[in-house]
Amino acid sequence: MAHVLVAHGPNLQRLGSREPEIYGTATLADIESALRARASDSLEISFEQTDDEATLIGLLHHAVDNQSHVILNPAAFTHYSYALRDACALVTGAGLTLIEVHLSNPHAREEFRHQSVISAVATGVIAGFGADSYVLALDQIISLQGGPSHGNNERH
Ligand code: DQA
Repeated sequence: MAHVLVAHGPNLQRLGSREPEIYGTATLADIESALRARASDSLEISFEQTDDEATLIGLLHHAVDNQSHVILNPAAFTHYSYALRDACALVTGAGLTLIEVHLSNPHAREEFRHQSVISAVATGVIAGFGADSYVLALDQIISLQGGPSHGNNERH
């Protein structure tokens, strides 16, 4: 069965109370339960949040070793972490899917958010749909696996 790591970067444990006018009121726990419901029995899914760049990079290395697809909200690291970018490149270079997600649409915000150093090495990017950005990313991974009822463990 395919495995998906959902990794959240810095400050995202504050979702729910952090700038709700920008990020909405869903908490990380709400996002986790929506994704668990969507994954049902078709995927194994795990969740991590860290404010620490090195820890996030370690999680991506583990995803490569574990052959795990990744849904990543790199948060502020999006805009400047070349180290995180290189770790993301390891994931996609291993033939795994890595979807960069954002709750907000960074392109509609401050100029420093317009650049992502991650996007060029991601499989794809979903931004601007609040907590649904994560659900859309998971739907895409499920679809790449051959759909919800497809129990093929040879395709990753
Ligand atoms: C974010 C957008 C980033 O610019 C910001 O630093 C975040 C959250 C988003 O999900 O919209 O922390 O990644």
